[in-house]
Amino acid sequence: MYIFLLIPLHLLQLWDTAGQERFRSLIPSYIRDSTVAVVVYDITNVNSFQQTSKWIDDVRTERGSDVIIMLVGNKTDLGDKRYVVFHSVMISVAASDI
Ligand SMILES: *[C@@H]1O[C@H](CO)[C@@H](O)[C@H](O)[C@H]1NC(C)=O
Repeated sequence: MYIFLLIPLHLLQLWDTAGQERFRSLIPSYIRDSTVAVVVYDITNVNSFQQTSKWIDDVRTERGSDVIIMLVGNKTDLGDKRYVVFHSVMISVAASDI
């Protein structure tokens, strides 16, 4: 007996620019066909969190509301060095319409 499963095929491409400015001009081509953008900040670095608004603006400029933006804090294993507190993230999320 054979069982055939129809499994939808999804293409996943991840572009990691590591927040580097030199990749900034390439961002529009990276996100043009994207449906999800994952914007990552370092919880131990306030500056990296503040810069997420620029990246979110870039994604919104290119894709409008046709994209899901996920805001992710990394380095959570360094919680004792956390500088980005949860309520700051929630205020930013509300303001950015993420
Ligand atoms: C954590 O996120 C920051 C900001 O995007 C990035 O520069 C850094 O490389 C990331 N670190 C790790 C370990 O993923």
